[in-house]
Amino acid sequence: MAQILHLYVLSTLLFALSLKVTSTSHHSHHELKSLHFALYQHETINKTGYIIVNGVVGAGVGQTTTPFGTLFVFQDPMTVTPNISSKVIGIAEGTAITSSFDGLRSISIAKITLRLKNHMGSISIVGGTHNVKPADHPVVGGTGDFMFVQGYVTSSPVDLKGPTVTYKIEFHLYWPPYANKFSLHH
Ligand SMILES: *[C@@H]1O[C@H](CO)[C@@H](O)[C@H](O)[C@H]1NC(C)=O
Ligand SMILES: *[C@@H]1O[C@H](CO)[C@@H](O)[C@H](O)[C@H]1NC(C)=O
Repeated sequence: MAQILHLYVLSTLLFALSLKVTSTSHHSHHELKSLHFALYQHETINKTGYIIVNGVVGAGVGQTTTPFGTLFVFQDPMTVTPNISSKVIGIAEGTAITSSFDGLRSISIAKITLRLKNHMGSISIVGGTHNVKPADHPVVGGTGDFMFVQGYVTSSPVDLKGPTVTYKIEFHLYWPPYANKFSLHH
C-alpha cells in the first residue's frame, strides 16, 4: 500500500514537473522575437570589390569564378529592391577566400551594417558561399539592436551579367530570450 502511495506521489510530482517544463518552454517560445526580410547586394569588380591576393590554381578569373586561394575584399551596398538605384539600407563589408578548385565556392566572413526602420546595428556572418547557387550562412552574432542575434542569411544570385553582380540576401534573424533582458538594462 505504502509503495503504491509512493508511486502515486512520484507520478503526480513528475506530472506537475512536466507541466511546469512545458509551460516554461511554451512561455519562452511565445517571447522569441524574430525578423525576416530581404535586401539586394550589389558588387562591382574594381569598384566595391577587389582581388587583394591572387589565387594559385584551378579556374581562371571570370564573372563567377576565381582561382583557388584568391583573397577578395568587398564593401557592397545593399538596397531594398533589385534596382541598384533604390534605397541603400545596408552595407556588407567582408572578405572571401576561394576554397574550391572549380573556383565557384568560397569561405566568406562579413559584417552587415543595417539601418532598418526600427533596428540599427550590425550582424556578423560566416560560412561557405557559392557564386552561382543559393547558400545559407550562419549568423554568429550582432551589435546594437542586433546584439545576441542568431539565425541565418541565404544568398541567391539575381544577376550575374555585366560589371555589377546582384545577390538577393534573405535574413532570418532570431533574438534569444536573454537579449530582451539585456536591452532593458542597456
Ligand atoms: C580589375 O583590376 C585588375 C588590376 O588592375 C585588372 O587586372 C582587371 O582586369 C580589372 N577587372 C575588370 C573587370 O575591370
Ligand atoms: C531603377 O531606378 C531608377 C531610378 O528610380 C529608374 O530610373 C530605372 O528605370 C530603374 N531601373 C529598372 C530596371 O527598373
